[in-house]
Amino acid sequence: MDSLNPFLAKHKEKSDFNQYWYSKATINFMASECEQFGQKIAFLSTPSIYFSLKNKEIKAASRVFDFDTKFNKDPGFVFYDFNKPEDIPADLHNYFDMVVIDPPFITREVWEKYATAAKLILIKEGGKILLSTIDENEGFIDELLGAKRRAFRPSIPNLVYQYSLYSNYESEGLLAKNPEIPDFD
Ligand SMILES: C[S@@+](CC[C@H](N)C(=O)[O-])C[C@H]1O[C@@H](n2cnc3c(N)ncnc32)[C@H](O)[C@@H]1O
Repeated sequence: MDSLNPFLAKHKEKSDFNQYWYSKATINFMASECEQFGQKIAFLSTPSIYFSLKNKEIKAASRVFDFDTKFNKDPGFVFYDFNKPEDIPADLHNYFDMVVIDPPFITREVWEKYATAAKLILIKEGGKILLSTIDENEGFIDELLGAKRRAFRPSIPNLVYQYSLYSNYESEGLLAKNPEIPDFD
């Protein structure tokens, strides 16, 4: 039998925090994408990917930013309220070479706050951004973060919207359709 993803097995989604986890196959794909393109990665509201990293060195150098303090036993946990990007500790500014983002809301106002946080914590040149949101956000995601919509659509089994992945860098993996979501167009 196919083994369970330990994160998904352990953490039930909490509706209070708008928690919608990616599927096991999408988590595996995104974790491997991160390990290919980042060394010090900030996971903003994307705990399933952080906790499913396989590369121990990359995981130790990375951080999981979230509002849910149930993750705070992990040494990489950073308490993060997207409403207060200015509260992110100064030692994490200009620190990460990649950020991965999936906010609890899809509005431009919320994305503006995540964009502020991402710009604060990414290194000044060449920082990579991977995120997921709805296709209708394509215009302002490019404007705020320079990220383009890619062919790969993540599976988020309990979410009513269909998201796409976006990135500000080129990746062959992101050009392919996700076999979990074969015919969405
Ligand atoms: C839509 S889920 C994204 C989870 C992602 N798909 C995954 O599988 O890891 C939203 C995430 O935002 C977090 N969150 C909720 N309220 C938040 C807040 N005020 N500031 C930062 N993160 C928040 C939730 O705990 C959850 O991890």
